[in-house]
Amino acid sequence: MKCAIILAGGKGTRMKANGPKVMCEMLFEPMISYVIRAVKEAGCEDICVITGYEHEVLENYLPEGIKTAYQNPQLGTGHAVMMATDFIKEHEDDKILILNGDGPLMDAETINKAFAYHEENKNAITLVSALVDDLKGIGHIKRDENGTLLRIVEDKDANAEEKLINESNAGVYWFNGKELLYALERITNNNVQNEYYLTDSLEILINKGENVGAYVCENSEVILGANDRVQLNNLTTIMRRNINNKHMENGVDMPCTDGIMIGMDVKIGNGTTILPNTIIIGNTVIGENCVIGPNSYIKDGIVGNNVILDNVKLTDSEVEDGVDCGPFVQVRTGSKLCKNVHIGDFVEVKNSVVGEGTKCAHLTYIGDSDVGRDVNFGCGTVTVNYDGKNKHRCKIGNHVFLGCNTNLIAPVEIGDFAFTAAGSTITDNVPTNALSIARAKQVNKEGWVTIKKPYKGME
Ligand code: UD1
Ligand code: MG
Repeated sequence: MKCAIILAGGKGTRMKANGPKVMCEMLFEPMISYVIRAVKEAGCEDICVITGYEHEVLENYLPEGIKTAYQNPQLGTGHAVMMATDFIKEHEDDKILILNGDGPLMDAETINKAFAYHEENKNAITLVSALVDDLKGIGHIKRDENGTLLRIVEDKDANAEEKLINESNAGVYWFNGKELLYALERITNNNVQNEYYLTDSLEILINKGENVGAYVCENSEVILGANDRVQLNNLTTIMRRNINNKHMENGVDMPCTDGIMIGMDVKIGNGTTILPNTIIIGNTVIGENCVIGPNSYIKDGIVGNNVILDNVKLTDSEVEDGVDCGPFVQVRTGSKLCKNVHIGDFVEVKNSVVGEGTKCAHLTYIGDSDVGRDVNFGCGTVTVNYDGKNKHRCKIGNHVFLGCNTNLIAPVEIGDFAFTAAGSTITDNVPTNALSIARAKQVNKEGWVTIKKPYKGME
C-alpha cells in the first residue's frame, strides 16, 4: 500500500500571510490542494498532513478522510515527520511518500516515476531531484566523483564549493516505512539552523548500508516551491500556461491567452473559443463550440454547447445549449437558463429558471422567479422579490409579454399569453390571455406651459 505525509506546519514568514503558508493560493486554490490532488492521483490511500502554525485553519480546510498530526514548536522538516510516528508505525511495511505542502507543481506522473525507480532499485529512500538555475536556498545533492549519492547539504550549511551544486532536492521522497522509523530515531539538530532536517535521512540510510537513489526529473519546473509572493506568482504563471496548453491541445481555441486563467478541474469541449480576461474555475463544465469571454468569470457553471457568454459573471448556475448572454450580465447562484434563451446587456438573473427561447434584451432583474418559455421581457422589467424582510417568488407563464418598465411585486403569478402594459406595477395575479394595465391614466393639460411659464426667461 502507498501512503503519504505532507509537511504543512510552516508559517511562511516571507509570504507575509495571515494563515498557514500552504493556504496561500496558486491559481485561486491553496497550494496544498494541488499537493493532495497529486498524491491521491498517484494512488496514496492514507494521507497525513503535518500541521503547525494556525493548524485549525488547515484542519477545517482539509477534505474528509485526511489525517493530521500537530507540530508545535516547528523544529524542522525531520521534526515535522517525527510528529507522524504513530501514522508511520501503522504503515511500517508500506511505502511512504513524504513531500512539502509548498510545492504545488509536483504531479502524479513524477511521483509515480520516482516510485517505479524506488521499487526497481529496491531502495530504502528515493528522493526526487532536478537540475536548476536558481541555486538560492535549495538543498544541494552531493555526489562523489562516480555520481554516487553522499548527502543533501542545505544551502545555509553549504561551503562555497557545495553552493555551486545545481542538483536540487525537490523535497519529495519515497521511504520504506521501517527505514523511515530507523532514520527518524537518528536525526539530530546539529547544523547551522539547529533544525532537525529530514534530508539527513539520506546519509543515515547510506551509513546503514541500504540502497538509496535519486530520481532526477526531466522537467525541473515540477519541483519549484514558493517561499514568497513573487515565487507564488511565478508558479501561477507556469500552472496557468500548462492548463491553457492542455485545453488548446484538446481543441479549445485561445487566440490570445492574456488574462485567461482556468482552474485544474474545469472541462471545456472542443471547438470552444476562450477570449482574453476570462477566469473559469471550480467544477465548471463547458460544452462544444461556445464563445466564452472576453472579460468573463465563471465559477461552478454547467454550460451547454453553442453558448455565447460575452462579459458575463456566472456562478453556480446552469446554461443550456444555444444560450446567448451578454454583454454585462450577471447570472447568480441557483439559476438555470434553458435552451436558446437570450439575455442582453445589464441584466441580472438570480436563483431563477428562465424557460426555453425566452428573451430578456436589456436592463432587467429576474430574481427568485420561475419563467416559462418564449417570454419577452421589455426593457427595465423588475421582479420585486424583496419586501424588506422576506424574499418572494414570481411565476411567469409561457409566451408572456411584459411591457417595458413592468414591476412584478412578488409573490405574483402571470398566466400564459398574458400582456402587461409598459410602466405597470403588477401587485395581483394576471390571468391567462389578459392584458393588465396598472398605472395612472394619462392626462394632457392643454396650454399649461403658456399659462404657467415654467422655463427660465419666460415672463
Ligand atoms: C526543504 C529541504 C530542501 C529542499 C526544499 C525544497 C529540508 C531540511 N530541506 O527546504 O533540501 O531543497 O525543501 O523545497 O528539508 N515544515 C514543517 N515543519 C517545520 C519546518 C517545515 O511542517 O518545522 C514544512 C513547511 O511548511 C513546508 C515544508 O515543510 O511546507 C518545507 O519547509 P521549508 O522551510 O520551506 O523548507 P526549505 O527551506 O524549502
Ligand atoms: Mg520551502
